[in-house]
Amino acid sequence: MSAENASLIRLEDYRPTDYLIDTVALTFRLHPTDTRIVSRLSVRPNPAGQTGAPLVLDGDDLTLVSISLDDAPLAQDAYTVSPSRLVITAPPQRPFTLTLETAVNPTANTKLMGLYRSSGVYCTQCEADGFRRITYFLDRPDVLSVYTARIEADADTPLLLGNGNLVEAGARADGGHFAVWHDPFPKPGYLFAIVGGDLDKVEDVFITASGREVKVAVYVEKGKSERARYALDALQRSMRWDEDVFGREYDLDVFNIVAVSDFNMGAMENKGLNIFNDKYVLASEDTATDGDYANIEAIIAHEYFHNWTGNRITCRDWFQLCLKEGLTVFRDQEFSSDARSRAVKRIADVRVLRASQFPEDAGPLAHPVRPRAYKEINNFYTATVYEKGAELIRVLKTLIGAQSFRRGMDLYFDRHDGTAATIEEFIACFAEASGQDLAAFSRWYEQAGTPRVTARGIYDAGNRTYTLTLTQETPPTPGQPDKHPMVIPVALGLVGADGREIALKTADGAPHDGIVVLDTAEKTITFSQVDSSPTPSLLREFSAPVILDIDLSDDDLLRLFAYDTDPFNQWQSAQTVATRIIRRAVDDIRAGRTPQTPDNLVHALAEFLDARATRDPAFAAQVLALPGESDIAREIGSDIDPDAIHVARKTIRAGLGRALADKLAALYNDLAVTARYRPDAAQAGQRALRNAVLDLLTAGDPTRGGALAQAQFDSADNMTDRIVALATLTHVAGLACENALAAFAARYADNPLVLDKWFSLQAMIAEPETLDRVKALLDHPAFSLSNPNRTRALVGSFAMANPTQFARPDGAGFAFVADIIIRLDPANPQLASRLATAFRTWKTLEPGRRAHAEAALERIAAATPLSPDVSDIVGRMLDRAL
Ligand code: TRP
Ligand code: ZN
Repeated sequence: MSAENASLIRLEDYRPTDYLIDTVALTFRLHPTDTRIVSRLSVRPNPAGQTGAPLVLDGDDLTLVSISLDDAPLAQDAYTVSPSRLVITAPPQRPFTLTLETAVNPTANTKLMGLYRSSGVYCTQCEADGFRRITYFLDRPDVLSVYTARIEADADTPLLLGNGNLVEAGARADGGHFAVWHDPFPKPGYLFAIVGGDLDKVEDVFITASGREVKVAVYVEKGKSERARYALDALQRSMRWDEDVFGREYDLDVFNIVAVSDFNMGAMENKGLNIFNDKYVLASEDTATDGDYANIEAIIAHEYFHNWTGNRITCRDWFQLCLKEGLTVFRDQEFSSDARSRAVKRIADVRVLRASQFPEDAGPLAHPVRPRAYKEINNFYTATVYEKGAELIRVLKTLIGAQSFRRGMDLYFDRHDGTAATIEEFIACFAEASGQDLAAFSRWYEQAGTPRVTARGIYDAGNRTYTLTLTQETPPTPGQPDKHPMVIPVALGLVGADGREIALKTADGAPHDGIVVLDTAEKTITFSQVDSSPTPSLLREFSAPVILDIDLSDDDLLRLFAYDTDPFNQWQSAQTVATRIIRRAVDDIRAGRTPQTPDNLVHALAEFLDARATRDPAFAAQVLALPGESDIAREIGSDIDPDAIHVARKTIRAGLGRALADKLAALYNDLAVTARYRPDAAQAGQRALRNAVLDLLTAGDPTRGGALAQAQFDSADNMTDRIVALATLTHVAGLACENALAAFAARYADNPLVLDKWFSLQAMIAEPETLDRVKALLDHPAFSLSNPNRTRALVGSFAMANPTQFARPDGAGFAFVADIIIRLDPANPQLASRLATAFRTWKTLEPGRRAHAEAALERIAAATPLSPDVSDIVGRMLDRAL
């Protein structure tokens, strides 16, 4: 085995553990720098394992203080220990008790994995492999144990929380106190959590469908509890929804959520004790945007839904990560669709999928939804596992129908409750419930890359038939040169010349359900009794995660924009036309010509604004947003010049803004929200449209738009309107912009989450001065590289959301981000590695910028020491093992 393959973990190498751990009794003596953990494990040989094997426990950065077996100290020659491993050479081949004491320093824990402190609060993060940073353990998801946690702390840490139910609490002789939590549901170590701190809370009682009382609470920093009300409400709505839609009831007497300010990801579904990035808990109209409220609702729901999809049924190994994540994202998407507008939610989700997952699938980091091998599991919490994983659940539901889908879910819960399952076991439930063979569908989990579907249609006026030919092709991805056909449900309709929907009939006259399953390289279907030449509306509701290539003219597409019964395809049609127009403008700019905004798009949008925009403002806001610069870049695919794209898009939008100026100005006035602020979908939609209108108006007339933005900034009574006004002013630039930025910073000087918006806005300004601005902001008193939210807001926004400045032609943007990654890596490798993924599309750039990106990546690769996280990601981006 070569050295670089030493750490490669393969799915095919899975085998059960040699020992099982039935119960875990932990005692934490919390101390800022020397926390002691005593772990009493009841261990027994696994009948499915190898008899007589050594017991090998995982550790990470641990100090072993003492060890005993069946309460007798273990002889030194009976074990070997290092910070990352504890091996009991010849354990008894019967049940026994192993007692370990470890010491950790939570204050020095900058990786934010294991036990750490965030603003004085003790908290834990154990997924994926953080439990081994607390105690030596069989730290893998297929080892399920019943946990009891006793937490001891000083009086300055009055709140002590654990998984499950509180069974005992009281004072200790030294003036401190303790609490004992017991979780009756067996779980893997990654779902373990404790919290110790001095926090405020909001609470309520939730009555489950069967009448059980659950105490629900959200804990936040002192003085901020009013800002946790929305999260608590979202939690209770999620609990009800899971009962109504999936028949799933909550199973413990308490459900606690704790918000902390230092967190590597969004939130974590620890059993009965979810721990959240406070960005996804805290909200008030003065500090949070409508988008923030929507994210809070979605993430609260996501973590709650994990209680069944993830916790009651967990994953056999980390290759099955999508079993819990893809499914749970699907569930939270459905929840938000029911709570808000389904069509708008679908458009927003597809936007996210295309912006985050499609580039992953098209570049060096492409991997299957269920990977076959990994070096560092933390690098596989990806858009492919989460977002494409959710799309596959949607595809499955479309293929077998809603009823079979629900029956399959019921069977899955029934059959696998209390176990660690696999994708095969999951799919088998749906095959059984539907009576369908899902073997070909399973390929979606194995094969990386986004399939490209090409559609060509022919109308035969004589026979009144319409024949549609669909072909598919999936491009090669790393390690997968040859692809098989996928099972692609194409939801479709035919729109007549009069704009009416044509009833679908097969060649023999039978009614057709509007879903063509493309499961071979090519498929042809003929529809009969079609009286006039139709316009096909394909991939309605985005029925599969593919790229659709369709030979419709701009006029055909604009007809769909006007008449399609599927709102997703209405939006998609406008997007496609706008994309084509901006692409042509890019070509114009690169050839030294001045692009023109074509009349057809102007007229279509004018009609839309007159007739339909105010009927569904949230939808209209999505239409007016037009494709973003990265959407255009993705369509172009290679030899990308981000500056040309920026200028092209700006020019087209300016043309639209000028041509539609009067309508936009009138709308801007009409759409003002006069009622008191509410974060609901209706009001949020109205604000979204009004702000999209402001944006387009400003594109056409910066002076006029800037004045409106200034007035909006001065008078806004909510964060949504205030931050959009500020963003608009940053596009206009000049003194007004600098003054508004300063006013905003002064107003929110003591609110780090709001200042993140301010860091982020400045990092996204598309002008050459931005790099110096961002560098200067690193020294701002409110900034800190050790806080992930701050780093993502400033450096992350620059690297991921400012394509022209990150990819500056002189390479200085890449070099800056590389420097930060190298600086950050020793302290927080997970965060550094995520930041490095900003380079994932580097090969699509034009040669000059590409060379600068490669040099930056090579510089990171050469840095020492380099964490496994960054070395894995950068190695894959450079097509070699580091
Ligand atoms: N399981 C978490 C979720 O809901 C993801 C997560 C939270 C995570 N914190 C993490 C993953 C730390 C890896 C490391 O999606
Ligand atoms: Zn999740």
